[in-house]
Amino acid sequence: MIQMENLHKSFQDLEVLKGVSLQVEKGEILALIGGSGHGKTVILKHVAGLMKPDRGRVYVNGKDVYKLRGDELEQLRSHLGFLFQSGALFSSLNVFDNVAFPLREKTRLGEREIREKVINVLEQVGLSGAEDKYPAQISGGMIKRTALARSLVRNPEIMLFDEPTTGLDPVIAHIILDLIKSVHKDLGFTGIIVSHELSRVFQIVQKVAMLHEGLILFVGTPEEIMVSRDPVVRQFVTEALRIPSSAMRSFDREEKPRGKE
Ligand SMILES: Nc1ncnc2c1ncn2[C@@H]1O[C@H](COP(=O)(O)OP(=O)(O)O)[C@@H](O)[C@H]1O
Ligand SMILES: [Mg+2]
Repeated sequence: MIQMENLHKSFQDLEVLKGVSLQVEKGEILALIGGSGHGKTVILKHVAGLMKPDRGRVYVNGKDVYKLRGDELEQLRSHLGFLFQSGALFSSLNVFDNVAFPLREKTRLGEREIREKVINVLEQVGLSGAEDKYPAQISGGMIKRTALARSLVRNPEIMLFDEPTTGLDPVIAHIILDLIKSVHKDLGFTGIIVSHELSRVFQIVQKVAMLHEGLILFVGTPEEIMVSRDPVVRQFVTEALRIPSSAMRSFDREEKPRGKE
């Protein structure tokens, strides 16, 4: 479903991707892990057709992303959903209109069909009843759910999650990850998730890839990475797995209002 072949990407003299090859099978979620600044977001942007590789290819659904033009690229994008850390909502639109936005903007569906789809997806993410609320009136967790609903509303075949829980407190982060797991079960998309919440993410994904200094250092199942003998992999995983418990702190429960993101 997603196939990257020998991707190279540099910015001026900074060589970020040095030959990344990676595959994600249909219906599978891959966790892409690795230290900050190693190029995880850059990889996702290549899959989405937002960045062009200096060398190498990306195939999505058998199509070479960088050979697509105009309508074809738009067609590909219509099958892609994103949830980025900074996935801001429109503060002037309520929850319903935020989620309806991609349908109004990119499809010719009538208001009745839009309403049906929005109501369905809001139910899926546990936001029924919050349709009329504005971003400033809801909690960080609800904002994230709304952004998730918006990314799912066109029923994408492929979902890209870039640190979807960074900046959320641990309890809410876990709720969001569990939600991703349950919508994946319902909808069966193919996905890539970049996250540092390894303990939770390893329960969601079928495969893990670790990016290190521009190359894929490890690909395998969550079970396999836990017993990897590679010293760099081991160190990263053990440190990352220690974070959630050491980061335990007093937290506010889900529904504390939070300003605009
Ligand atoms: N558009 C860009 N222009 C210049 N440098 C960039 C650009 N995007 C990413 N980089 C650089 O590429 C490296 C990898 O970035 P990124 O993919 O965001 O890392 P991460 O693994 O933390 O997601 C960083 O050094 C970043 O500064
Ligand atoms: Mg990043």
